[in-house]
Amino acid sequence: MATAEKGYDIADIALADEGQRRIEWEDRHMPVLQSIRERFEKEKPLDGVTLGCCLHVTTETANLARTLAAGGANVALCASNPLSTQDDVAAALVDRYGAEVYAINAEDNDSYYRHIHAIVDKGPQITMDDGADVVGVLHGERSDKLSGVLGGTEATTTGVIRLKALERQGKLGYPIIAVNDAKTKHFFDNRYGTGQSTLDGVIRATNVLIAGLRVVVIGYGWCGRGVAMRAKGHGAHVIVCEVDPLRALEALMDGFEVMPAVEAARVGDVFISVTGDRDAIAGEMFNVMKSGAIVCNSGHFDVEVNKDDLDAITVEKFETRPLVEGHRTKDGREIFLLADGRLVNLAAAEGHPAAVMDMSFANQALAAEHVVHDHGYLDKKVYPVPEEIDKEIARLKLASRGVEIDTLSDKQQEYLASWDQGT
Ligand code: ADE
Repeated sequence: MATAEKGYDIADIALADEGQRRIEWEDRHMPVLQSIRERFEKEKPLDGVTLGCCLHVTTETANLARTLAAGGANVALCASNPLSTQDDVAAALVDRYGAEVYAINAEDNDSYYRHIHAIVDKGPQITMDDGADVVGVLHGERSDKLSGVLGGTEATTTGVIRLKALERQGKLGYPIIAVNDAKTKHFFDNRYGTGQSTLDGVIRATNVLIAGLRVVVIGYGWCGRGVAMRAKGHGAHVIVCEVDPLRALEALMDGFEVMPAVEAARVGDVFISVTGDRDAIAGEMFNVMKSGAIVCNSGHFDVEVNKDDLDAITVEKFETRPLVEGHRTKDGREIFLLADGRLVNLAAAEGHPAAVMDMSFANQALAAEHVVHDHGYLDKKVYPVPEEIDKEIARLKLASRGVEIDTLSDKQQEYLASWDQGT
């Protein structure tokens, strides 16, 4: 294994060939990012900028890293989850694309944080987070490096929630663009990406037939909507559990059964948490689950399934298939936990497909350019992605699919701007 001093720490550099092939395959499905890369190659908007990225180390992220490097950036990348790293991708990034990568699949907590520190050691001028772990370290133990940061970006709902908490307390050390909140990100990545990749993860891990099962989706934000929609598409009977009355009503009118989680626990076959909060699957729920229940999480952190509560009623743990941990309970039931309660879509499958990450990562690349260009005008706040960027990405994505759309006539525009034109 290589060491941090050499500028990387990855599982096996010999995997680079396989990694490169897979990265290039996914690039074919990322036309928006490709077009940004071509422009970045000419204009070098990130010239000499050190980017500290903490993202899932996947083929799609590799194509983002290539784009940032094409813009002139020095890219240092660590993992945003210990189970999502694709070791062949890490190898190709180091060996073929000149990035510094600190990430090893299934690394332990010490290694995970050591790698975040390795990124911080580089003195990043821009941070690119998925879950705000680099921001957390920079605002904690490593505040020595805070003053050198011009700005950052954040990819996910959970991270934006943490950043807004920092901002509210007046402690945010630099401006951050909430990439997650761009429409071309969360309408698509959170919904269609999480929807497809979560079902993909459950199926790859277990090989169960979804049709006819009762699938319990806990949380009906954009991710939950996507998971429920795709589970229904597979023929599941979907039950939604939600604490927000508006979202619960939406789930009901979208055709799903809605009930409290502990009631759903009695009847469910597969449980999927997507809440962004802790203890979504916990306590009494485990006591009433049917034998054979499958439990997993597709929210950012592994706090959504309370593993201590499950362990407390477990008399024996047994391995079944990779990433499927069997728990025999005191009363003789079997409950199966997938991917140790970590993101099932990234741990058991490959995360969101490239075609949707295309837009998420186009937002990341353009937000980084925006920070370099405009950081002088930005305060220490959480900012949205500028609307022009969001719209441009949607336009580019439509164009890449050969889809044309209408434009408003002058009369229509005038009508929309008026208040006095009735029937
Ligand atoms: N988050 C969800 N899916 C992802 C992917 N394929 N690559 C990087 N981050 C992701």
